[in-house]
Amino acid sequence: MTTPFPQSFPATRLRRLRQAPWIRGLTAENVLTPSDLIWSMVVHDGNTPRIPVEAMPGVERFNVTEAAEAAKRAKALGIPAIAIFPHIDPRFKDEEGSEGLNPDGLIPSCIKAMKDAAPEVGIICDVALDPFTTHGHDGLIDEAGYVLNDETTSILVEQALVQANAGADVVAPSDMMDGRIGAIREALEGEGHTNTLILSYAAKYASGFYGPYREAIGSATALIGDKKTYQQNPANSDESLREVAMDIAEGADMVMIKPGLPYLDIVRRVSETFAIPTLAFQVSGEYAMIQAAAQNGWIDGDRVMMETLLSFKRAGASGVVTYFAEKAAQKLG
Ligand code: PBG
Repeated sequence: MTTPFPQSFPATRLRRLRQAPWIRGLTAENVLTPSDLIWSMVVHDGNTPRIPVEAMPGVERFNVTEAAEAAKRAKALGIPAIAIFPHIDPRFKDEEGSEGLNPDGLIPSCIKAMKDAAPEVGIICDVALDPFTTHGHDGLIDEAGYVLNDETTSILVEQALVQANAGADVVAPSDMMDGRIGAIREALEGEGHTNTLILSYAAKYASGFYGPYREAIGSATALIGDKKTYQQNPANSDESLREVAMDIAEGADMVMIKPGLPYLDIVRRVSETFAIPTLAFQVSGEYAMIQAAAQNGWIDGDRVMMETLLSFKRAGASGVVTYFAEKAAQKLG
């Protein structure tokens, strides 16, 4: 970057601007508020109110009642939206992920309970089959284990409609099938859901940082192989621009970059190139690393939490999906 004017010492002493809290605050270029946070929440279909997730200290799976209570807390804290992810009883899983289409299933029940409890809070639903399939993939597989694109898309369309019918404000396809945004948009329009937002996980990488999430939703033992034939290669950056351009053309209202911190360069490129609301997902592994180091006394966990969340804003994100949402909003409050 070339500076617009010469800066020479001692006429310029940049430390003058850092000498006290009032001047640091006055000149801060970015600010984090609770309205930047989307609460990433794992829900389950059992009766136990809260079940701790071992690989994610501080995160608990909520049953439907607890999820509704959490929605009220989100409202009180000024958290605008909650993204829910289901942990499904293995009894309900099959090869096709049929439970994802059950209008009386866990996710529709949560949507209704949460919207009843706190209608002001936006509910975002993951569109993907992995929580519901015995093989742990996001779509249908053929005999060779390859995830089928177009066949999967037809099911995702049904899943998105089930969520929209239950009252979801946002459907968020995280599966990385080609063409699913256009197909979902067309179906939503066709069913009169003209105001249902689509948040596309447009740039989603095949990442090791999702490890703890698979324990959280109970797909860890299930997953056969990896997701590299549909999620992006971490070596690529231009490819994300192509993904985002397609999803916008197909009808996405917002796009997501995932994982978060290791991909801030993508957040920056996408937000600058497309000027569309760009969200970042601070995923389970990022959360777990911070919590593990903090528990060992190696870092100040709260400080690192706030620093990472602010970094997303600095990179150009409009908001951050994070397991820290409640804690961070309490601190900000
Ligand atoms: C899959 C999905 C994943 C996450 C959200 N939706 C995992 C994956 O793609 O394997 C990860 C979230 C996290 O790690 O916090 N549809």
